[in-house]
Amino acid sequence: MLRVLRLAAPVLILVCWASAQSAPLAATPPMGWNPWNHFKRNVDDKLVRETADAMVASGMKDAGYQYVILDGGWEGGRDAQGGLYADPARFPDMKALGDYIHSKGLKFGIYSSPMKTICDGTEPGSLGHEEQDARIFAAWGVDYLKYDVCDGEGIYLKLEQQDPQQAHEYMLGLYTRMHNALQATGRPIVFSICQYGLDAVWRWGAHAGGNLWRTTNDIRDSYTDMSQNGFTQAGLSQFAGSGHWNDPDMLEIGNGGMQPDPYKTQMSLWAILAAPLIAGNDIRQMDETTRDILLNREVIAVDQDPLGRQGDRVRSEGPLELWMKPLQDGAKAVAIFNRGRSDMDFDFSFGEVGFPGKVRVRDLWLHQDLGVKSGEYTVRVPKHGVVMLRLSKPASI
Ligand code: GLA
Repeated sequence: MLRVLRLAAPVLILVCWASAQSAPLAATPPMGWNPWNHFKRNVDDKLVRETADAMVASGMKDAGYQYVILDGGWEGGRDAQGGLYADPARFPDMKALGDYIHSKGLKFGIYSSPMKTICDGTEPGSLGHEEQDARIFAAWGVDYLKYDVCDGEGIYLKLEQQDPQQAHEYMLGLYTRMHNALQATGRPIVFSICQYGLDAVWRWGAHAGGNLWRTTNDIRDSYTDMSQNGFTQAGLSQFAGSGHWNDPDMLEIGNGGMQPDPYKTQMSLWAILAAPLIAGNDIRQMDETTRDILLNREVIAVDQDPLGRQGDRVRSEGPLELWMKPLQDGAKAVAIFNRGRSDMDFDFSFGEVGFPGKVRVRDLWLHQDLGVKSGEYTVRVPKHGVVMLRLSKPASI
């Protein structure tokens, strides 16, 4: 017995090590938290540690939220050797902060820009310091970098008017340089391209080493803004897949600007889109409704399905839209969205989403099996709300 144990432990360690080495980065859409939507620049070491604690205590970590990501404004400056340092008053020890996040079983994300300074600020970006910064990030234990083009947007747009090809090469170059620098550190660091969808980034983001790329302008905590970001993703499904995802920006759930139905819409639509789920609220004090939405494991499972297919719009009828995402086990996630201002009925047939015969229906917000059905089906969808179903073949067929 003792001999078996002695043998088993190193073998287990070896197996774990090997699978950690071979797991592709962002195999499923990244999940985590970023303070920008709620706190903007008012962030410090204490808030980040408290958030990491809350991610564990609230069950978010167990539900899959993993990356604790700093946004713009953490930077202090550069020292005489050009070394980037954090604002010492708010972030006295970045390596210690990374260690703390890791000690909770979470991962550490950071932010920079390919410009001289970050967006709307005087803090340094990484222009001309890509390799030096990547080495510093790796030494702090960073696992994720959001790289935000900021003033590069204006430079790109000007160039685009004169010479679109040159503009494309400029943009590609900014991101490729940092990707190469991250690669050179030898540390696996998820690379989040943030340039608001310029230059149809979905066509070349993976080529520039992106694991995710923003496809839209900044989200805001209103139904108009959120739905603008989400529904314009129709048609982009072919560009996403394991390791490289379209990113319609972070979640607003729990920030107070929308009612529960629109927040369910965001969670459902992002899951159908296989979009990154980066919570943007104060998770130290979530109410029950927010928690139920962010922690809906059935909806999260749709987002994180290992097949890695982004869903797409099947059909729309006035303000009503039917979306579908294929899942690995042959099931399909279906969401019916009501973008109108009053509750409405929507009729569809299971055939049009791939189930011409009998189909087992589960409601992912009610957490209820609705039985085996076939043919036509009608759902009542609340205004700005959603009905989300998981459809699968009944076992006996
Ligand atoms: C841009 C990004 C946002 C956020 C801010 C920070 O607007 O799109 O997500 O990072 O910069 O200034």
